[in-house]
Amino acid sequence: MNDATLAQVAARLRDAQAVFALTGSGISAESGLPTFRGVGGLWHNHRVEELASPEGFARDPALVWNWYNERAAVHRRAQPNAAHHALAQLEARVPHFTLATQNVDSLHRRAGSQHVLELHGSLREARCDRCAARRALADEGLPLDAIAHECGGRMRPDIVWFGESLPLDVWRAAELAAAHADLILVIGTSAIVYPAAALATQYNPRAFVAEINPEDTAISERVDATLRSPAAQALPALIERAFG
Ligand code: OAD
Repeated sequence: MNDATLAQVAARLRDAQAVFALTGSGISAESGLPTFRGVGGLWHNHRVEELASPEGFARDPALVWNWYNERAAVHRRAQPNAAHHALAQLEARVPHFTLATQNVDSLHRRAGSQHVLELHGSLREARCDRCAARRALADEGLPLDAIAHECGGRMRPDIVWFGESLPLDVWRAAELAAAHADLILVIGTSAIVYPAAALATQYNPRAFVAEINPEDTAISERVDATLRSPAAQALPALIERAFG
């Protein structure tokens, strides 16, 4: 990690009145959870249209639930890492701090972040695709014999699939926070899935945008600073440098 860049972003963080943080699956990599793209990524080994689309769910709900039940179990076994904890600390420190995540793993909440905008929903609950009834997922996930709901609909994971809209209230809150931030931190996302990726660079020409990611991304050329480092190293180092 470049020390001059760390100092530059730390100075912005110290002076910021409003910070907007956007996270993706890379922030949970050091908790042992796979990302989506690239070798070893979830979409490298699985067919996204089967597992993450309303059409795939309609075709084979049991296949889809088996996969999400397994993912939910993996999430429960994982622990938040130093990057999740660092963002929870920032929430308490910065006057106006908003955290929006594309992740459905609940690790930000478990690290102590109080207000998390979950842009793609979460794997804590199932909801009916007809009447919107909800049900918490138990440790073993949703039993397959509970997929059929009494109203005639089907219980589905409470997450956003490809081709679906983001929850409107969550999206509006994220747009607003991105538009009013002095500093935008983009952490552990390839920034290619829209509309979430737009929050990084398209809502606020005035904000200083810093990316934390060990690899180049779709927005690397457009950000003001890049910390090329795993999030669990970069975020604690950034807070230490900014607030000492
Ligand atoms: P991707 O798999 O597209 O990108 C993960 C990013 O994390 C990459 O840019 C990696 O370089 C980076 N990364 C890996 N290890 C890291 C580390 N230790 N610290 C920081 N960054 C690291 O995943 P997302 O951008 O999260 O959507 O994908 C966005 C959306 O696509 C997901 O929310 C999901 C997926 O399909 C839905 O399911 C709707």
